[in-house]
Amino acid sequence: MWLAAAAPSLARRLLFLGPPPPPRPLLLLLSRSSRRHHLHLGLAAMPEKRPFERLPADVCPINYSLCLKPDLLDFTFEGKLEAAAQVRQATNQIVMNCADIDIITASYAPEGDEEIHATGFNYQNEDEKVTLSFPSTLQTGTGTLKIDFVGELNDKMKGFYRSKYTTPSGEVRYAAVTQFEATDARRAFPCWDEPAIKATFDISLVVPKDRVALSNMNVIDRKPYPDDENLVEVKFARTPVMSTYLVAFVVGEYDFVETRSKDGVCVRVYTPVGKAEQGKFALEVAAKTLPFYKDYFNVPYPLPKIDLIAIADFAAGAMENWGLVTYRETALLIDPKNSCSSSRQWVALVVGHELAHQWFGNLVTMEWWTHLWLNEGFASWIEYLCVDHCFPEYDIWTQFVSADYTRAQELDALDNSHPIEVSVGHPSEVDEIFDAISYSKGASVIRMLHDYIGDKDFKKGMNMYLTKFQQKNAATEDLWESLENASGKPIAAVMNTWTKQMGFPLVYVEDEQVEDDRLLKLSQKKFCASGPYVGEDCPQWMVPITISTSEDPNQAKLKILMDKPDMNVVLKNVKPDQWIKLNLGTVGFYRTQYSSAMLESLLPGIRDLSLPPVDRLGLQNDLFSLLHKQADMQEEKNRIERVLGATLLPELIQKVLTFALSVSYKENCLLRDLLLTGI
Ligand code: BES
Ligand code: ZN
Repeated sequence: MWLAAAAPSLARRLLFLGPPPPPRPLLLLLSRSSRRHHLHLGLAAMPEKRPFERLPADVCPINYSLCLKPDLLDFTFEGKLEAAAQVRQATNQIVMNCADIDIITASYAPEGDEEIHATGFNYQNEDEKVTLSFPSTLQTGTGTLKIDFVGELNDKMKGFYRSKYTTPSGEVRYAAVTQFEATDARRAFPCWDEPAIKATFDISLVVPKDRVALSNMNVIDRKPYPDDENLVEVKFARTPVMSTYLVAFVVGEYDFVETRSKDGVCVRVYTPVGKAEQGKFALEVAAKTLPFYKDYFNVPYPLPKIDLIAIADFAAGAMENWGLVTYRETALLIDPKNSCSSSRQWVALVVGHELAHQWFGNLVTMEWWTHLWLNEGFASWIEYLCVDHCFPEYDIWTQFVSADYTRAQELDALDNSHPIEVSVGHPSEVDEIFDAISYSKGASVIRMLHDYIGDKDFKKGMNMYLTKFQQKNAATEDLWESLENASGKPIAAVMNTWTKQMGFPLVYVEDEQVEDDRLLKLSQKKFCASGPYVGEDCPQWMVPITISTSEDPNQAKLKILMDKPDMNVVLKNVKPDQWIKLNLGTVGFYRTQYSSAMLESLLPGIRDLSLPPVDRLGLQNDLFSLLHKQADMQEEKNRIERVLGATLLPELIQKVLTFALSVSYKENCLLRDLLLTGI
């Protein structure tokens, strides 16, 4: 039961040296964290905001019929687009996105009427747009826009690009692959490249006949190409309505392993030639994951197939293209003989993440890039839920706490952090917000929200949201509304305090025995790494707080919503010798500072291991941060040091501990318990 305090009022700073960042799988260093370099630029270093206008809404696409013919030797491609479009307002020009593409001819044929040839292509290179001018007015109604164009298979790992690989015999060759998120579909074909402008796609590829050609959908036709006997034209089934950033195609040489998931989806994992064995683990994960999400969302996977493919040159870690998910090799391939359990856990998480997007992101898409944090934060949370379901032996939530949660708190305690939700104008700002705050804090606050709502209502709300907005677009508020309807709790009010302001609270707690009950006095202040919060109006959060006692360390005795700066809470029937712990499972995104007496009383629970491992981990993290803060308060410091076993060098313990947590499950538990018992 969650108790909201009666009064509906809502809503620092420490010298923070904190534990070192946890060692992560290599990929994480290369992917998630590589986006974080923007995080610490500070405002002074920010480029000036560029003026930006969305595409005019007078003409919009209904269906793109797109044929691409890549040349894998001279790194060019030819393209033909025939887009069924709707003119909503009479105009003599069409504005689309287009970058690094040369248009050769363009025309518009109103339905049942004569083709009108465009007389000018005005490229606005800075804005990555082109304006097609027509000699007469295009009247409202539907018609066909035809554009012939050429482009380069670039080496920038975005748009339609070339990826180098070496054949088993040592020959260097190139594949042609795509990476469109956030705004690079426009480098492959002229299009309305905004997430809210959805359409269907009929894609065909003209490729050498000995190459594999893949796209979002299944192949429906494959025939010789009339002009060249070495080529074939491969035609794919029509996609559901979707955003351009999720379109994908791949042409290259691959082997694959395949299976059919319990819910009837054809799943394939494509690997470099000769390495099909290394795709088997990801195949197993994907086949388990699809039914998990189908059941969790109560919405079936909407496409007949899903391919997961390892790409030799890949900028991100992975990309959730609908039905054709691309991965860097280390995020998908597992050598059955030579891989460690942390690589397997990482592959399981990445597969779980990208397959979650097939619903959350692909079926329901963010209205604009401002809501990207929700897309990524949600997937970064549910990937753990999924892996925990499929591989309970991994104890994966402990890793969430030791990696994402801890990291997010470290970064978010800095003065140059930023709110999770940042309004995005120009898409060039998108890269700046793809950092650990959107991923790890995003995932942490969704985890807290899920715990606050409870799994049953959360699932119900997710289904309402995905059903209501399927094939459409939604904003963050839309999800809050669905979850609010499902749970009857004030979700938007709670979540706005976590997403629209940076930082998180430090909750102070002291207790007093009053006859058979325990009275807790709670207060919140913003936690800052650089010293106590000094401003006038200290930000406030609506904090879902759980409280456990030594009577049952694994069960919350009370759950409250702390919706004001100070609160008194009465815990009924707590004996004087029982300890009290806040933040069961280290789920709440806050730090706790206990009174000396409360901290002291937790010692037996730490020693006899009755306090669960993630609780000990959370306690330890909080204490490290407070240890530094309280360097000037000798008495308090001594107490905390006793709890942490500071004689053993706290930083060292933390390093060993976090390393252990990233290596293997059994050893982890052992080491973690040993270290924490030694305290
Ligand atoms: N959609 C992202 C990848 C992306 C985002 C590419 C923005 C380009 C621009 C994908 O779902 C993702 O989050 N990938 C992660 C791996 C994931 C397991 C955290 C990545 O690439 O780091
Ligand atoms: Zn993602």
